[in-house]
Amino acid sequence: MSDNGRGHWQTRAGFVAAAAGSAIGLGNIWRFPFITGRYGGGAFVLVYILLLIFIGYPVMNSELILGRKTEKNPVGAYKALAPGSPWAIAGFMGVAAGFIILSYYSVVAGWAISYIFKSGAYMAAGADTAAIFVGSITSTFGGIFWHTLFMALCIAIVAGGVEQGIEKWSKILMPVLLALLIILIIRSVTLPGAGEGLSFYLRPDFSAFTGEGFLAALGQVFFTLSLGMGAMITYGSYLKKDEDLPLNAKYVVGADTIIALLAGFVIFPAVFAFGLEPAAGPGLTFITIPAVFAQMGAAGHIFGIIFFALLTIAALTSAISLLEVVAAYFIDEIKWDRKKATVIMGIIIWLLGIIPSLGYSTLSHITPIMGMDLLDSFDFVANNILLPLGGLLIAVFIGWFWGTDKALEEANRGASTKLGSSYSFLIKYVVPIAVFIVFLNSVGILG
Ligand code: PHE
Repeated sequence: MSDNGRGHWQTRAGFVAAAAGSAIGLGNIWRFPFITGRYGGGAFVLVYILLLIFIGYPVMNSELILGRKTEKNPVGAYKALAPGSPWAIAGFMGVAAGFIILSYYSVVAGWAISYIFKSGAYMAAGADTAAIFVGSITSTFGGIFWHTLFMALCIAIVAGGVEQGIEKWSKILMPVLLALLIILIIRSVTLPGAGEGLSFYLRPDFSAFTGEGFLAALGQVFFTLSLGMGAMITYGSYLKKDEDLPLNAKYVVGADTIIALLAGFVIFPAVFAFGLEPAAGPGLTFITIPAVFAQMGAAGHIFGIIFFALLTIAALTSAISLLEVVAAYFIDEIKWDRKKATVIMGIIIWLLGIIPSLGYSTLSHITPIMGMDLLDSFDFVANNILLPLGGLLIAVFIGWFWGTDKALEEANRGASTKLGSSYSFLIKYVVPIAVFIVFLNSVGILG
């Protein structure tokens, strides 16, 4: 533990692993493919990559800067730099987004846990992986059970604290996930009919690309990098003062992007090879990947078990960062101890998660947004509204209130390659204007 008792990452590898652990999760392996499939493939991927570079990377730096500068949670960070101003509300929005995202994130992570035990079903001759998926999400008891198990794991780790809990876990498991993805890619791209999937994924066709697709790409950039709600402010707050901040930001963005793009190489060839529908929505990964395993003979059982175990762990290292934001707020600002903050807030989030978890069974008649089910709707609100808005506010705060000169000073202490005027330009103009235009565009005011 450090001087002020909040804890610090022990090593650079520890920070990168934890921050990459936060970034890499269901966002990469579950959400990226299904959103790409929904919004048309290659054109979406291209827009996504551009937004990663011009919006994701500068906002990543910005959050880490605010965190390390203030050593606070998002609410505390705004309060420290703009005392007595309404900016704290931007921090609160982040904490609120943490509640919403984790509540349904845990439900999807619960699906991943349950799939550790489903290899018998999807490996059976003639198994219909779409039917298996529908069967598992429509089970009322099952949904709540796995969601409960996941939240319990998450609470236990966060209650353990920064070094012992989060850092230790993240470091070991990420490389194994990468190795397994590569094995899966090899199987997927060599399936008969895989080529059509590759061209869907890689060949941009802008004719079907809409303003809504733009917003979805932006939301995905924030979601996958854990930006816009203060997770990286919070993780930055445990970063040592002389650590190379821009370099760390590059590692995290780079690692996250590689994993997402690789996941696409597993999913899309398989989608087309098996004649599935790329716009299938939240079930896409859970339907496609087991179908790939089923093509691998007996080894498919073992790979399947390892894959879903790793997906669960990837989800866990992200979920703990979501809970950490909420917990850090109650620890720093309300002066609760870590255990109390974690357990009480964890239980509230668990309760909230029961709503999306029942969205395919008892509550399936409720489709609040554009006909989407409850889980999809929670996801939509969080990623298409709360996170981009949070990112916009961070950029406006640094660019127009606190000052990019101060941000640069904080970022560049210990930096090998320093951030400079291009960072300032992106944060002052490009990020706010782009997010604003994408918002307008998607509600149909433009376009
Ligand atoms: N980045 C995580 C993922 O890709 C999700 C996440 C979002 C985590 C926001 C923290 C904050 O799965």
